[in-house]
Amino acid sequence: MTVELTYRIYSVIFFPEGKQMEHSLLQKNFQKFKGITREEFFIAQEIKRYVQIQDGNTILDVGCAGGDLSRSLVRDSRCITFLDVNEFDFSPQEKFIHASFEEAEIDGQYDYMLTSHVWGHFYRNDTFEFCYKKAHELLKGGGKLIVVHNSNKDFIGKLIDFSKSLFKEIEFDVFLDEFLEGEDYSEHYFDVNLQAESFRELAELVQVLLVIPDAVYYEKIEDVVYFLKQNLEKPEFLINQRLLVIEK
Ligand SMILES: C[S@@+](CC[C@H](N)C(=O)[O-])C[C@H]1O[C@@H](n2cnc3c(N)ncnc32)[C@H](O)[C@@H]1O
Repeated sequence: MTVELTYRIYSVIFFPEGKQMEHSLLQKNFQKFKGITREEFFIAQEIKRYVQIQDGNTILDVGCAGGDLSRSLVRDSRCITFLDVNEFDFSPQEKFIHASFEEAEIDGQYDYMLTSHVWGHFYRNDTFEFCYKKAHELLKGGGKLIVVHNSNKDFIGKLIDFSKSLFKEIEFDVFLDEFLEGEDYSEHYFDVNLQAESFRELAELVQVLLVIPDAVYYEKIEDVVYFLKQNLEKPEFLINQRLLVIEK
């Protein structure tokens, strides 16, 4: 992947629906965050543990970004339909739908639908319920909806509460458990580790979890450093994530 493409992918991940991309420190911190946590590797490992995707199964990857996560789950990526509101480059053999999930016209039904770190966007768009119903309609009978999101348990929950008091707008991962009522599902929790050399560096990486623009975040970063020092022994903490496998 070229440096330019990598840069573009990281940019759009933070700015769904074509917002401006002028937040270079956020992008830099995001790349560092991904390198330290190796998040995609651990998410894929967890999915493979609980979901047996067979050759020939079809997958719809919603909010796919560059598509690396779903690609790492299968032998032949032609069984995947990739979908993202932002544009990404795919090989000519791969199918990519460039549209919001809310507006996309999608043919057929799938064995699996992968939705990793995307429900927070639907929540903020006020389309969570619509998207949940649409996801079910797009699954074959017995098909499975795979959801991955930060559980916001433990330290992250505390960090989010603190950040709400400091910043007007923060973005964090959300999944509404009320939609699980009456569903046939399994849930699995796993951690990824965010470890920095110093509390200042950790505060910079925390910007990624809150998606706050540089100017706003860096004005108050010393308050974040202070909070981290008060609540952690070392400049590191675990990010707890939940994998949900919901059967239609
Ligand atoms: C945090 S990234 C997750 C990428 C990937 N699924 C993963 O877990 O590594 C969220 C992705 O969702 C996309 N997205 C945001 N809102 C969306 C929407 N309404 N419909 C489709 N994709 C959306 C963004 O463009 C971005 O690529």
